[in-house]
Amino acid sequence: MTETPADAAATTERQADKVTPQFEAEIDEIVTHYPVSKRSASLPLLHYWQNHFGFVDDSGIEWIAAKLGLQPINIYELVTFYPWFRREAAGKTIIRVCRTLACAMAGGYEVRDQFCKATGIDPHHHHHGFGIAPPTSADGKFSVEFVECLASCGSAPVALINDTLHENISPEAVPGIVEKLK
Ligand code: FES
Repeated sequence: MTETPADAAATTERQADKVTPQFEAEIDEIVTHYPVSKRSASLPLLHYWQNHFGFVDDSGIEWIAAKLGLQPINIYELVTFYPWFRREAAGKTIIRVCRTLACAMAGGYEVRDQFCKATGIDPHHHHHGFGIAPPTSADGKFSVEFVECLASCGSAPVALINDTLHENISPEAVPGIVEKLK
């Protein structure tokens, strides 16, 4: 595949260059909740950044570090430690299927495969390594990934679709769930 100038521009685009005064004001407001140690605002800021931009690039790490008077490594180690944070873009809708014991035994793996099928993602594509974007549909609409226990073991198998928890999912119900998300 040949890279177009638009692709090249997209890859060199820095998220920090897109920070608006309003976005920065919202960040400053979050920081005020941590008067004792600004460092404690690191995770809330990373969540806010990822919700806004979809993932956290190098410029985001540097920007947040500078905002909190920290070294970029202090932020980088959080982004690489917590699987929740991504260093690459994922689909607009992220389907996180629990694969821990209760869900695995109740059919979580089959549910995950059905989500892949219904969204046009190769079910054999498993991603490894923190920060890497999960398998994403060609149209960029969906990503599907496994996560560990979502604290809803009594209603296994479960999946978190963006911010909504879906419980007792049967493989047969998956196409209908995906249809509603389109
Ligand atoms: S094992 Fe799936 S929610 Fe706990």
